Amino acid sequence: MLITKTIAETRAALGKVRSEGKRIGFMPTLGYIHEGHLTLVDIAKKHSDFVIVSIFVNPTQFGPKEDFSAYPRDFERDRRMFDARGVALIFAPSVEEMYPELELIKFQIEKMSDHLCGERRPGHFNGVVQVVAKLFNIIQPDVAVFGQKDVQQLFVLKRLVYDLNFPTKIIMGPTVREPNGLAMSTRNVYLTPTQRAQSSILYQSLQRAKELIQLGERRASVVIAEMTKMIQTATEGRIDYVEIVHTSDLQPIETLEGRVAIALAVYFGKARLIDNIILDINEKSVSEMPTGD
Ligand code: PAJ
Repeated sequence: MLITKTIAETRAALGKVRSEGKRIGFMPTLGYIHEGHLTLVDIAKKHSDFVIVSIFVNPTQFGPKEDFSAYPRDFERDRRMFDARGVALIFAPSVEEMYPELELIKFQIEKMSDHLCGERRPGHFNGVVQVVAKLFNIIQPDVAVFGQKDVQQLFVLKRLVYDLNFPTKIIMGPTVREPNGLAMSTRNVYLTPTQRAQSSILYQSLQRAKELIQLGERRASVVIAEMTKMIQTATEGRIDYVEIVHTSDLQPIETLEGRVAIALAVYFGKARLIDNIILDINEKSVSEMPTGD
């Protein structure tokens, strides 16, 4: 497994790979790897011949009061885990390498960051789009894999690629969960044992929402109220949002129809947990969107 720290050496290594006719699969991360990340590596492997991951805690996507400096980092642990999973190259640049000077060109996102996490984390998705656009230009992958867990990120990046004609195909990987249903996340290390146990209600509330809609409920407000009640009754968690949006533009909808994301964010102490499901809803059937496609 190769490790590169600079853009120049990464481009040189990938130029060679490309000249051998190999397809490049990419999976960007903030590091502190868990099974959710590694499942995306497996998916990248299926769609390419050479898998590159990046480890970069991107300062431009953290708000001033967020955990940029406290974000867990352990390169040696990440290196071992990626190596064991068959990653071919880790790109681990420094902040200076990625942002040598104050950037004067930035992105503006219309509509798609107005709700869900975007509303609560101003500027977050601008930073995500900025760093992913840079990484795509550095690496020029044929495919890139992102997790459904960060559903708003995934759909914003799909739109980035579409609007700006990036040649990279975005693939969605399924949300990988702990045995109790909690979506795996680097920030789960912030949870106490009690909070971890209580967190199972989040996935249960999403499953209950699906059940209600399968039973014929089509009013988003009713589904949201039921989920809110479930979460508030069973936990000390503080709800940040429970929302239902259309996946095309991430705008909230009241009458449930078409492809929708039911998404939530709940604070447990200082950990902010997010989760979602995507449903295809029509008059006759309701199905959870197949993942990994
Ligand atoms: P990070 O939080 O490290 O996540 C890296 C990738 O792993 C993302 O695509 C995320 O959706 C996915 N992921 C995280 N937890 C997952 C889980 N439980 N199941 C499936 N996939 C999961 O997301 C970021 O980093 C950054 O914003 C990044 C895209 C790297 C840009 O800086």
